[in-house]
Amino acid sequence: MCGIVGYVGNAGRSANHGALDVILEGLRRLEYRGYDSAGLAVVTEAGIESRKKSGKLANLVGVLEADPLPASLTGIGHTRWATHGGPTDANAHPHLADEGNLAMIHNGIIENFSELKAKLRTEGVEFISDTDTEVAAALLGSIYRADGEGDLTRSMELTASQLEGAFTLLAVHAEHPGVVVAARRNSPLVLGLGDGENFLGSDVSGFIDFTRRAVELGQDQIVTITPDSHTITDFSGNPAEGKEFHVDWDAASAEKGGFASFMEKEIFDQPAAVADTLLGRSDAYGHLTLDELRISPEELASVTKIVVLACGTSAYAGSVAKYAIENWCRIPVEVELSHEFRYRDPIVDSNTLVVSISQSGETMDTLMAVRYAKEQGAKILSICNTNGSTIPRESDAVLYTHAGPEIAVASTKAFLAQITATYLLGLYLAQLRGNLFTGQIKDILADLGKIPAKIQEILDRAEEIKSLARSMQDTESVLFLGRHVGYPVAMEGALKLKEIAYIHAEGFAAGELKHGPIALIDEGKPVFVVVPSPRGRDSLHSKVVSNIQEVRARGAKTLVIAENGDEAVREFAEFLFYVPETPTLLMPLLATVPLQLFACELATVKGLDVDQPRNLAKSVTVE
Ligand code: F6R
Repeated sequence: MCGIVGYVGNAGRSANHGALDVILEGLRRLEYRGYDSAGLAVVTEAGIESRKKSGKLANLVGVLEADPLPASLTGIGHTRWATHGGPTDANAHPHLADEGNLAMIHNGIIENFSELKAKLRTEGVEFISDTDTEVAAALLGSIYRADGEGDLTRSMELTASQLEGAFTLLAVHAEHPGVVVAARRNSPLVLGLGDGENFLGSDVSGFIDFTRRAVELGQDQIVTITPDSHTITDFSGNPAEGKEFHVDWDAASAEKGGFASFMEKEIFDQPAAVADTLLGRSDAYGHLTLDELRISPEELASVTKIVVLACGTSAYAGSVAKYAIENWCRIPVEVELSHEFRYRDPIVDSNTLVVSISQSGETMDTLMAVRYAKEQGAKILSICNTNGSTIPRESDAVLYTHAGPEIAVASTKAFLAQITATYLLGLYLAQLRGNLFTGQIKDILADLGKIPAKIQEILDRAEEIKSLARSMQDTESVLFLGRHVGYPVAMEGALKLKEIAYIHAEGFAAGELKHGPIALIDEGKPVFVVVPSPRGRDSLHSKVVSNIQEVRARGAKTLVIAENGDEAVREFAEFLFYVPETPTLLMPLLATVPLQLFACELATVKGLDVDQPRNLAKSVTVE
């Protein structure tokens, strides 16, 4: 939700880069966070120069070509996901204040902006946009002028103290070439440390091309960067500290690598995402070592209930986890959408383990739910893909997924990595609590270890599902059915199709069909059915086969995902895609892949922007 970059360099160092190049490169990498408009401001000898344009970053590049900026070593850049005010040029960031001497960019929502705007108007300030950001810029400008000391950092502290809501603010001022000041509350910001240059970004991809040294910033902190220094304070000006970490993603992992889209590349990254998430977390004897968890084994063993909090795709990973953890550990698991959780007076206490699942680690709904659960005394374990992000930092324990950077807005490899991490957690809890014998854990780990190669087998046959997708480009509605762990897979398959191909899609529990949704079936209606292994519980498989027959009898075009060798489905399937054999509980790691490929290809042939679907942003940092 909005991407932010800040840069200061030092003219004397040969390694330094121009502000424009750094900012454009950072915005290119952060564009997945929002693409309603893009803009930047640099500090030059003549003062602040700014360019901005609605639409994607390419539009801003066009503006810069037509109206180039002078060279500069200080600047800020923004890519927007609109909240206050439509995606127009006027509402694009940066917003100027202090008679054009100050430029500001913002991510988040300032909740008290109306009161502040009214007050500033009485002081004679005129506004030209509908944004809350322009109000924050005007407030900073007014405080800076009133203070009269020329202290931009102090003025930012005073500004941030008056704002309510969530914000990352970055500002530059014509009187301070070589300085960028930032404030953060409930919205992401990471500092990048260079040699004679420093960086700010919504996440490390904002500066990954230039440095791997990064600093996590805490809540309610102000950071001021110059080419050779960074200073961190709280909103009252007291010194504060960040936590330095090394970024182990390389720039190449955030490139398309020859694929038509990031999404396709990330689907093909999945064998590695699963393998890397498993790596180093168990030994050859079936013993799991999750040393990184900061909750003691005793505390984990005493857990009486697990509540999984997540949104969207991550919540579907949580639904898969429920089946596995309840089966292996005999602990009740509730899965709840984060944004629903705290509004219903949930029952959580010190024996509850809350497992938050978030690719970005910044989803505001999940962050707020986690904070609420923590206040109620629950222990928080977060499963997250983004080092240094807010949710893991505020959790008691973290289990990182190692999917690498996920750039496409629609989540794919993070989903499989999340499911893998929840399996590890479930097996670890089963080990601590003695629910499974070491031999059983060893067998499950061995099955998990075979998953990456099995995903690769599916990817090697991608063309089968892609050609189905190409034949269905005029489809207006698709249903997805599954039972047991196949149910969240069906939901995820439907979500992928909705979000990138803009096709009406719904996922149902196959058993629910006869309670209403079967009325949707008419001649030729495409229905994907995720079939569990015939080697698993007999009744489960045969019930789903009956469901296929039911929809087929009513004219549905049945598109079946089943396990290799499942002959029972063949005669009822208009299209049949076999996935390799695996125990039912692990099946989502395989059955999801053809559905991802289907959505990706369908959106591609429809000529849609697969990586940046309309109205969406990768990291949803507003509630
Ligand atoms: C769907 C998708 C979203 C996210 C959701 C949670 O493809 O990407 O549904 O899964 O917004 O995001 P994280 O996992 O970052 O908390």
